[in-house]
Amino acid sequence: MVEPFEEELVGNRPPFLGSDLDDDVYQQIVTILRDQQNFQLEGYKVLCIKRRLASRIRSVGYSDPVAYVELLRQDSREQEQLLTALSIHVSQFFRNESVFKVLEKTIVPELLDFSRRNKSKFRIWSVGCANGEEPYSLALICQALQRRGDLLSIVGTDLSPEALTRAKRGIFPPERVQCVSDEMLDGFFCKINQQYQLNEQVRGQVQFFRHDILSDQAFYRANLILCRNLLIYFSREQQQMIMETLADALLPGGYLVLGRAETMALACRKLFVCVDPAERIYRRVGVA
Ligand SMILES: C[S@@+](CC[C@H](N)C(=O)[O-])C[C@H]1O[C@@H](n2cnc3c(N)ncnc32)[C@H](O)[C@@H]1O
Repeated sequence: MVEPFEEELVGNRPPFLGSDLDDDVYQQIVTILRDQQNFQLEGYKVLCIKRRLASRIRSVGYSDPVAYVELLRQDSREQEQLLTALSIHVSQFFRNESVFKVLEKTIVPELLDFSRRNKSKFRIWSVGCANGEEPYSLALICQALQRRGDLLSIVGTDLSPEALTRAKRGIFPPERVQCVSDEMLDGFFCKINQQYQLNEQVRGQVQFFRHDILSDQAFYRANLILCRNLLIYFSREQQQMIMETLADALLPGGYLVLGRAETMALACRKLFVCVDPAERIYRRVGVA
């Protein structure tokens, strides 16, 4: 068996890359994650996943993917770590600020107004919410727009239990809050050891749940759904499935916001009208 680093040290060859990972090894990893972690890698973009696998294999000090597969087979902790490495949790408050400006100026006030007139709850769902930055940004916007008596529910879901634990804790490093205004930082955060903790009141506005958007049923219906920077990991077929799930979960007249680099699947275009192409905002077709 090749020991960690041996190949690099002895052969002095560059470390392998994702494209070098052969299909047999890839399939073995897929099978281990499916059988032991109940995680389906089928459907994810293969090259995108291979690159992340290669990066994880290198970072634990292995240069031989076959040896890494043996480690993975026996070590459930490494399986969990690999899952975390595969689904990166990069996010920040008000990521792509301009879309939050549109939400603050037009979409959220309109939906709040709709809920008031209908005496219904205004319901927001952040799909793939990572460490909570996205649903908390919406909670901060709602703080300023909400009136006494408004009913509001914000839910954040993610595949990763670790990300959800961080989300519930609500403590963020400075780079994650760099787009939060000074006024909001002073009003809603408390600085602890160079980190920023969101206050209990705002944290209490968001509920977090583990949910796999690929395989779990949508358990929540919403007026506004954000599903950003998550579709990019999936094949076209999977993207279409997700959008159909989200179309079903949206209340009539509700809005869906995708990430900057994401577009509506062709087959789903009849379910939505695009109301802001630059910000990737779509409205569910149906009578409000
Ligand atoms: C890049 S982050 C995006 C965070 C946030 N939406 C944003 O745009 O800043 C992608 C998140 O999607 C989550 N994710 C990956 N696959 C998922 C799935 N099948 N179901 C739910 N969440 C998933 C990952 O755990 C990760 O936290």
